[in-house]
Amino acid sequence: MDETHREFVEFCNALIAAGSESEGFLEQFDAFIEHTAAHFNQENRWMEATNFPVACHHEEHDRVLAVANEVRQHIEKGDLFLGRRLLEELPPWFDNHVETMDTALAFHLKKTGFDTETETFPENETAPPPACTAV
Ligand SMILES: [Fe+2]
Ligand SMILES: [Fe+2]
Repeated sequence: MDETHREFVEFCNALIAAGSESEGFLEQFDAFIEHTAAHFNQENRWMEATNFPVACHHEEHDRVLAVANEVRQHIEKGDLFLGRRLLEELPPWFDNHVETMDTALAFHLKKTGFDTETETFPENETAPPPACTAV
């Protein structure tokens, strides 16, 4: 998860450094969306595999991707206002998301013994993972 997050930060910083008016910004933005979709899908898979009970995490991923795709359409038409706004909002959103939702997921993954490399439970292959009951 940390490695994926480092990549997210790199994509994000590259977009901010380039600026929404720069040539090739749309292609760069597409690469960012592609990476973010893979990043979110990975976490969504892990949540499903480990019975992670907090649906709002998955929903937040969906909302952010929907916003990014909508902003992309505006950028494509040459309207850069929302692109600029998104670049301003992404860093504080991401910091908050990692500190809250992703940290809770990482804690849960450790607790269940889930191996994120193999996406299996190497120490307890036969038993289903315990569902987290804390709210
Ligand atoms: Fe994440
Ligand atoms: Fe997440």
